[in-house]
Amino acid sequence: MVEAEVYLDAAATTPPRQDVIEAVVHAQQEAWGNPSSLHNTGVKAAEFLERLRWKLADRFAVAPDQLIFTSGATESVHLAILGSATTLPPSRIVLSGVEHPAVLAAADQLKNKGWTVAFWPVDATGVIRLEFLEELLAAPTRMVSLIAAQSEVGALQPVAKVGRACRARGIRFHSDATQFIPQGCPEFNGFQADLVSLSAHKFQGPRGIGLLIRDSSLPITPLQGGGGQEFGLRSGTEALPLIAGMAQAISLLPTCDLDREWIPPGSGPEVRRQRDQLLQALLELPGLALLGPDLHQRLPNHIAVLIGATDGQPIPARAMVRELARRGVACSSGSACHSGHRQDSSVLTAMNVPEPWRQSGLRFTLGPWLDDKDLKHVPDLVIAAQRALS
Ligand SMILES: Cc1ncc(COP(=O)(O)O)c(C=O)c1O
Repeated sequence: MVEAEVYLDAAATTPPRQDVIEAVVHAQQEAWGNPSSLHNTGVKAAEFLERLRWKLADRFAVAPDQLIFTSGATESVHLAILGSATTLPPSRIVLSGVEHPAVLAAADQLKNKGWTVAFWPVDATGVIRLEFLEELLAAPTRMVSLIAAQSEVGALQPVAKVGRACRARGIRFHSDATQFIPQGCPEFNGFQADLVSLSAHKFQGPRGIGLLIRDSSLPITPLQGGGGQEFGLRSGTEALPLIAGMAQAISLLPTCDLDREWIPPGSGPEVRRQRDQLLQALLELPGLALLGPDLHQRLPNHIAVLIGATDGQPIPARAMVRELARRGVACSSGSACHSGHRQDSSVLTAMNVPEPWRQSGLRFTLGPWLDDKDLKHVPDLVIAAQRALS
């Protein structure tokens, strides 16, 4: 049953590639020693780790000491926000109104340390409203966190523009690029950010490994103590096999030149075309409306729609997800982390989607494991699921 599923939930996680699994197994066999040990087994692991660090640094055009290995984007985001804020006097952090819950949780912890949190309003498509830039970047703002590509509605944010404005004002700037990187790997400098977070399982790498890329001239306070690994910023024996898998997965990502184009090319040569075709077919169905930006400001693998019944009434997207799963299609009702709860989407609320529709956002996210025949029947299956709920 699961094998036959058409997997359209890349924003939640992605299937690991065979060569990634092989890289993990190889590292586990060849370099199982502790990189901190002084004997030959340890030195072999330390050298292995350094080669991986150089390879990854090269991909982002940074120095190796700018990379901090973490357990994933959730941890990277916490280290970026909390680790930076504790080096600054308590003041104000600005977040977009459409951040991932990990960012909201990290910023929430800052409130206990005397910080205030302000939200950058978004327009009806989920993109931040730049007319608020001067007001929000004025004192007392000392930190800004902006998601590079929004997971629920696919909106690409003007990260480099905000980054430049923050730099000019001496404001620390973090971008959560977890959904962006899988569609195109840019140089770190392209983000104009001090800190960038990402997670390997979103681009066919292993689960439980991520990166925080940083400007190493800026101080960060570690969140946990111990053996002092990762330049003292993230103690704990390095997950070398997972790092090897992440390095392999990153090496296969398409390059994205942020100076020339802000929309990444897509996780495979066909993904954008397949997305466009599927989106067009879905928008021809009664009761479906595009959610989020048009194709000029949207992730190239991302479709989000508001789903209504044939009589125009909103359908809870969670019910649609279950109906589609019965029919062999895996998709999502928005942020996977929220899908266990029946509540309005905070992202759709920030976008001012009318209240009755805030549980009706349905997301299909594509990846290079799909071919045209997988997608051919999806619109018919959506109709069948919609009728079952009308
Ligand atoms: C934008 C964004 N940030 C952070 C995360 C958290 O990633 P992880 O669960 O790998 O820590 C996710 C995962 O859904 C995400 O989409």
